[in-house]
Amino acid sequence: MIDLRSDTVTQPTEEMRRVMARAPVGDDVFGEDPSVNALQDYVAELLGKEAALFVPSGVMGNQIALAVHCRPGDEVIVEAASHIFTYETAAPAVIARVQLHCIPSARGEMPLEALERAIRLPEYYFPRTALICIENTHNRHGGTVVSLEHISAVAALAHRHGIALHCDGARLWNACAATGISPQQYAEPFDSVMVSFSKGLGAPVGSALVGSREFIAAARKWRKLLGGGMRQAGIVAAAALYALQHHRERLQEDHEHARLFAQILAESALVELELERVQTNIVVFRYPAHISFAAFADACRREGVLLSQGMPGYARAVFHLHIDRARAIQAAHAVVRAVRSLL
Ligand SMILES: Cc1ncc(COP(=O)(O)O)c(C=O)c1O
Repeated sequence: MIDLRSDTVTQPTEEMRRVMARAPVGDDVFGEDPSVNALQDYVAELLGKEAALFVPSGVMGNQIALAVHCRPGDEVIVEAASHIFTYETAAPAVIARVQLHCIPSARGEMPLEALERAIRLPEYYFPRTALICIENTHNRHGGTVVSLEHISAVAALAHRHGIALHCDGARLWNACAATGISPQQYAEPFDSVMVSFSKGLGAPVGSALVGSREFIAAARKWRKLLGGGMRQAGIVAAAALYALQHHRERLQEDHEHARLFAQILAESALVELELERVQTNIVVFRYPAHISFAAFADACRREGVLLSQGMPGYARAVFHLHIDRARAIQAAHAVVRAVRSLL
């Protein structure tokens, strides 16, 4: 079975498992886990921020950022198809107790005029706009890259209004691999960035938040409150550090495989697919409109490929370190056969 449901389905490699087994550990709630501390120092430096905090998941990282930047009753501007709005079980309403203001976009870059209009005036009866979030790469739009020019323009607007800027960078590494822009350059305009190790990098668990020392001190308190204080977490932090140091370069391969897969699908002319949208390791395409996603996914499974659902009407294929070129090609032909079987 070729599993393209997500880049989170990867298994740790043999070398990663060896590194995990040997990792020096301590009690991270006391700040005494050398492997966690090494990872945090490395990530902070890589992203050019003062400090970093290892967190169990990307969702926890995003939600802690919202809680630190906002007060209850504030408003957070997010892109309408963002992970924070779509897939985080309304956590902003429960944890930070904020309201989300969604702005639609074509590929993840919220139009500046719409952003400016969305910022609340300082009337007592309006919520306070406290935070703007940008997702890079953008998952539901198909792994699209948000440009540094756009980010800089949003940062200028946000900071002019005294609004903080957070990056959901679960796949920021893919944006870097696709553009050649460094993690530090991408992180620079943001007040906080969440990055993940458990997606394209192939580590089993974990994300990190980066920001100022003060931001990370507040984030540490929220992590504990949410039950995210892990003890000998160095076992998994060591895998994350290994993934950062050894699996970042190879993300380009995932991008090439995604493109190859997309080209074969596009050439078949049996599905609707925008090739310009295939910028990193995700391919989204329209499956035949007369059937349900479940029926389409079943047909693909019968041909040996697992896919996930994207926006309504769209299927999603995600490329990762267990999919080589041959399997990417095999998967594309299998999906074409599945579509034919349904016509
Ligand atoms: C863009 C984005 N942000 C956040 C997350 C959440 O990460 P996690 O599954 O580690 O909570 C994901 C997960 O796929 C994601 O795609």
